[in-house]
Amino acid sequence: MAGLAVNVDHVATLRQARGNVSYPDPVAAAVLAELAGADGIVIHLREDRRHIQDRDLKILRSTVQTKLILEMASTSEMTRMALSIKPDAVTLVPEKRSELTTEGGLNLMIHGSSIAETVAKLQDADIPVSIFIDPDPEQIKLAHKIHASMVEIHTGEFCDAKTGKKREKAFSKIEDAAKLAYRLKMGVNAGHGLCYQTITYFRGLDEISEFSIGHSIVSRAVLVGMERAVREMIALIKEL
Ligand code: PXP
Repeated sequence: MAGLAVNVDHVATLRQARGNVSYPDPVAAAVLAELAGADGIVIHLREDRRHIQDRDLKILRSTVQTKLILEMASTSEMTRMALSIKPDAVTLVPEKRSELTTEGGLNLMIHGSSIAETVAKLQDADIPVSIFIDPDPEQIKLAHKIHASMVEIHTGEFCDAKTGKKREKAFSKIEDAAKLAYRLKMGVNAGHGLCYQTITYFRGLDEISEFSIGHSIVSRAVLVGMERAVREMIALIKEL
């Protein structure tokens, strides 16, 4: 069965919306997600600190009981931070200040050599690295070439598709990419935009070992509570 890593960034988004308060605390959300059975906690420490703060990363490092996955841009500041905090894994993502959320995968054709340096620095320090990339065979091959332990396949195009035909086309790219990465012996994760409906498409795609899901779970948690929101997602993943 695939695992579920719960991204708690948007708990911090709610806190930062008021700026001067300390609630809701993503640390508390992470505890609840773990109690509900999450296999990992994900946070994205952005350069502009729009949601997760340095304090969250530091506290989560010592409180997360499963595994702490740090999403970060491949910059020297973030690499220093990761090397000092030592998350259990890093996912390298592209980052633009103007975007609402991460908009696309990393383009290894353009940024391959600088990403390769970051991968080597982190993996030499025993921090496995996943690269967030679009479901494109060329990108998967490049991720393999730079020795990344894992890839995270960007599921955004599939989740955003407005017609059944477009969704099926986008999903078949994900299937091909997952199978290729698996054949190349990389860990295969998937995420971005997944919700309680779109997750059901992944039935039978056993190459994926972990889903990284945030917005839909935190949105549901506002209404039904964090533990129930996480348990409901895990139940759907169990049926895949
Ligand atoms: N994976 C990556 C690499 C991401 O950047 C994000 C968004 O922070 C997610 C997964 C989770 O996406 P969502 O919040 O839409 O579930």
